[in-house]
Amino acid sequence: SHVLVLAGGLSYEREVSLRSGRRVAEVLRAAGVDVEVRDTDAGLVPAVLADPPEAAFVALHGGVGEDGAIRSVLELLNVPYVGATPDACRVAFDKPTAKAVVRSWGLATPDSVALPKETFHDLGASAVLERIVDRLGLPLFVKPAQGGSALGASIVRTAEELPAAMVGCFAYGDTALIEKYIDGVEVSVSVIDLGDGPVALTPVEIVPDGGVYDYAARYTAGRTEFFAPARLTDEEIEACKAMAVTAHTALGLRDLSRTDIIVDRSGQPYFLEVNVSPGMTETSLFPMAVETAGRDLGTVFRVLLERAAQ
Ligand code: DAL
Ligand code: MG
Repeated sequence: SHVLVLAGGLSYEREVSLRSGRRVAEVLRAAGVDVEVRDTDAGLVPAVLADPPEAAFVALHGGVGEDGAIRSVLELLNVPYVGATPDACRVAFDKPTAKAVVRSWGLATPDSVALPKETFHDLGASAVLERIVDRLGLPLFVKPAQGGSALGASIVRTAEELPAAMVGCFAYGDTALIEKYIDGVEVSVSVIDLGDGPVALTPVEIVPDGGVYDYAARYTAGRTEFFAPARLTDEEIEACKAMAVTAHTALGLRDLSRTDIIVDRSGQPYFLEVNVSPGMTETSLFPMAVETAGRDLGTVFRVLLERAAQ
């Protein structure tokens, strides 16, 4: 029997997911696992019915891959999978909802406004934006409420830049998340649970060469410098790890997740978002954190799949 790696799909992060899927399959094969990778379309259902896998690994990013939908399909097909349930994914994938949940657990997260496209148009774009700038100040960070890989995301330093940022954001999603921009050290903390509860790995610091961790900086080798561990004090490192574990637990996640955090100049960490299906490409943070911890990525995935199949 075999395990199934789901990749591709039709989200804006399709290309990233194909790269993640290839990498996951490669390391699993090296760990002695029989793997089938498949693109995620309607052909999934007949393929699974014809040759049911022992378990599935979802290497899909964005859209149905992360919002829980594909995991509902796997449940319907009776295929065990690595990672969070559909309900948990739905909550975690929607950034405004995830922020509200972790805030209720006492984590700091930048003040923000979630703005649906309809509201933006119905109330009049300039009036809405003026209210938002009045409330949150400047600079701001604008991004789609759902989605990833920084697509449709931008920093807004002056009120004049805001309308263009909104247009760029609405190209990738129907609701915008407008956040107060926090200046500081950007880190990402991967969490894995191999059966003894969620454990945070070493925070990885991200220093993109152009200052902004955009799509190109994420997926072009050499465009971003990484520091593992992040160049933070021991207390800051511990605070980031605790934040990632709390987010993972508060959102009811399972097996693995990755939380993105900004540590401001005073050392205060702010939760930005959590990824239920973190990137697994050659330049992605989760594999880097696992390897920095001295663990074999393929073995980690194999154990997670075995646990799911039990
Ligand atoms: N959304 C991308 C794949 C990530 O978070 O790694
Ligand atoms: Mg993300």
